[in-house]
Amino acid sequence: MEQRLRGILEDAMAEMSGITDGRTLEEARVRYLGKKGRLTEVLRGMGALGADERPVIGKLANEVREKIEAMFGSVAEKVEKAALAEKLGKEKLDVTIPGRRRKIGKKHPLTQAIEEMEEIFIGLGYEIAEGPEIETVYHNFDALNTEENHPSRDEQDTFYISDNVVLRTQTSPVQIRVMKSTPPPIRIICPGRVYRADTVDATHSPVFHQIEGLVIDKGVTMGDLIGTLRLFAKNLFGEKTEIRLRPHHFPFTEPSAEVDVSCWVCEGTGCRVCKGEGWIEILGAGMVHPNVLKACGIDPEEYSGFAFGMGVERAAMGRHNISDMRLLFENDLRFLSQF
Ligand code: PHE
Repeated sequence: MEQRLRGILEDAMAEMSGITDGRTLEEARVRYLGKKGRLTEVLRGMGALGADERPVIGKLANEVREKIEAMFGSVAEKVEKAALAEKLGKEKLDVTIPGRRRKIGKKHPLTQAIEEMEEIFIGLGYEIAEGPEIETVYHNFDALNTEENHPSRDEQDTFYISDNVVLRTQTSPVQIRVMKSTPPPIRIICPGRVYRADTVDATHSPVFHQIEGLVIDKGVTMGDLIGTLRLFAKNLFGEKTEIRLRPHHFPFTEPSAEVDVSCWVCEGTGCRVCKGEGWIEILGAGMVHPNVLKACGIDPEEYSGFAFGMGVERAAMGRHNISDMRLLFENDLRFLSQF
């Protein structure tokens, strides 16, 4: 038995010292030290030994195991080091190769414009509301006090899906939805896509964006509307910007106005951008018509409010001096990446 143990030790030493890779080493370890390994086999036979022999052989067996384990440890270390050295040799890092630049996307100028406008109104305590782009005639026209024969209802102007359903022509129907579902006070702005049967040219597109504003509370006046729009215009176009209101007509507001801002290029003296006017029209606004409040179950004797709506494309084109609306929809990255 003693001889068998010494034989195992010699064989293990000879075999392991020649091993250079981890897998062969592990296989060898199992063959000697594993559950069915040669050393384990010998130890199993110990029961057959006499009481005087057992401690001597037991001690030797332990020594042999420790030696094989130590040998295994040092070979394993060598093998690992060699593997690492080989890996480092292969994976040379050339720090002189130019880096690969990652293209970072950015927001579309229309999204930028919408978010900028939203920020201004959020700062004034408004909440953002949204509504469907496929809208009922009731929400898009009827509840907004639009007469039965108003030209905007014409098929020439509006895309009808059925007699009672249209692609919304304005964001104003969102007002109706919010007023019907939320008791005043209401302070919302509604950005979104709208549709009109227009032919595409430099200033028209059948799909465009509006931002609508609505405030309903007790004692809201035209003065509040003008103050709000002044503040908005100064925030968006610069501190020196002034606004002016021209009388106008919308079915859903009374009185109604078209609102101009002083030209952000010439500050009102007249230039190419404002076509010599000094002013640029940016939105429609007015005091919410009592019929609209009534249609939404709000008592016009108790509450009043104002509303305004503007085209996002027009505002963005003005600010960035873009002369053709089609550029905003063609999505040519060479154009878009400028903003
Ligand atoms: N909805 C109007 C339009 O599309 C704009 C508007 C909104 C006017 C709210 C007044 C009040 O032209």
